[in-house]
Amino acid sequence: MNAHSKIAFSRQPTDRPVAADVRAGLLQDPGFGKVFTDHMVTIRWSQARGWHDGMIGARAPVQLDPAAAVLHYGQEIFEGLKAYNRADGSIALFRAEQNARRFNASAARMAMPELPETTFLQAVDELVKIDSAWIPKGDGALYLRPFMFATEAFLGVRPSHEYLFMVIASSVGSYFKGGEKPVTVWLSDRYTRAAEGGTGAAKCGGNYAASLLAQAEAIENGCDQVVFLDAAEHRWVEELGGMNIFFVMSDGSLLTPPLGTILPGITRDSILTLARKEGRTVREERYPIEQWRADAASGKLKEAFACGTAAVVASIGKIKSGKGDIVMGDGATGPVTAAIKARLVGIQRGDVADEFGWVRRIG
Ligand code: PLP
Ligand code: COI
Repeated sequence: MNAHSKIAFSRQPTDRPVAADVRAGLLQDPGFGKVFTDHMVTIRWSQARGWHDGMIGARAPVQLDPAAAVLHYGQEIFEGLKAYNRADGSIALFRAEQNARRFNASAARMAMPELPETTFLQAVDELVKIDSAWIPKGDGALYLRPFMFATEAFLGVRPSHEYLFMVIASSVGSYFKGGEKPVTVWLSDRYTRAAEGGTGAAKCGGNYAASLLAQAEAIENGCDQVVFLDAAEHRWVEELGGMNIFFVMSDGSLLTPPLGTILPGITRDSILTLARKEGRTVREERYPIEQWRADAASGKLKEAFACGTAAVVASIGKIKSGKGDIVMGDGATGPVTAAIKARLVGIQRGDVADEFGWVRRIG
């Protein structure tokens, strides 16, 4: 199978869809990652057969052998992307091919088989089409979660010879409970997320497992998210538990940490592209935490924001840490953050021209 081949999906729509009135109730205020749709995609891979048994069927629990490699050695990767209801009544995906590509980069890092990009996109499209009634009206979206894990029953430590790829979907609203309010982040000086040569650039479950204790510490300290520093010097700002980070300087320029040990966010790349296009200076450079403190105090640093598929663009109002807090400006969302968010969301929703061809309509 090459990068462009298609696989046949068998279709077995559920005979017990959630009733329309129950679904409407769930879509009122879905929050993030709690409301799931009626269907899912499954495709199997084995060394002998490659990708096979593509199916779109009723969402149901998965049966796994207790010795399945994922349960022991965590060989798992995932993606996250959204389908939007647009003003003109169409449904669209944003840069989905980038998710397909990153999925394969993650697969390569975790010694897993690559999935043809066309198959990834076909799986996502099919699920959006069959579960389109689950896309919330207004600001919400259908969050798609493609993932793959090792299913071979074998306790030796080596790459599995069998995998299951799946896509599930969740109706979502705002990622943060406070909605549009600026978020507060916790600076972790005890835990790090990824080291040089590690898996920081891959979207693998293990990265998130390793972030949970730091995230719990953030919550205990009244923060929404954790911000990680580099593993070697505990000095350079890297990213949040589930988002990239940007800084807006007083001269209007943007600064974001360089790729390497962080996830190459598609939102990050989109913001860099849009900012460059509008003539803004953007730098992908390391930023030390002591500089963040000094620049916030001197007024050289005006705004900071987090960005990612789930959270879109979230203004950072305050940073808390054991060594004292940093308050960003007056703690409110700044004008540059607001403008970047409006432009990005506008493209996704069809209210702003899509000059880079990022949006693909399906149905
Ligand atoms: N960094 C981490 C650790 C993430 O989990 C995410 C979310 O996917 C991002 C950054 C942002 O990536 P993207 O913009 O592709 O969603
Ligand atoms: C995403 O934005 O898609 C993510 O995977 C982040 C996760 C913390 C929900």
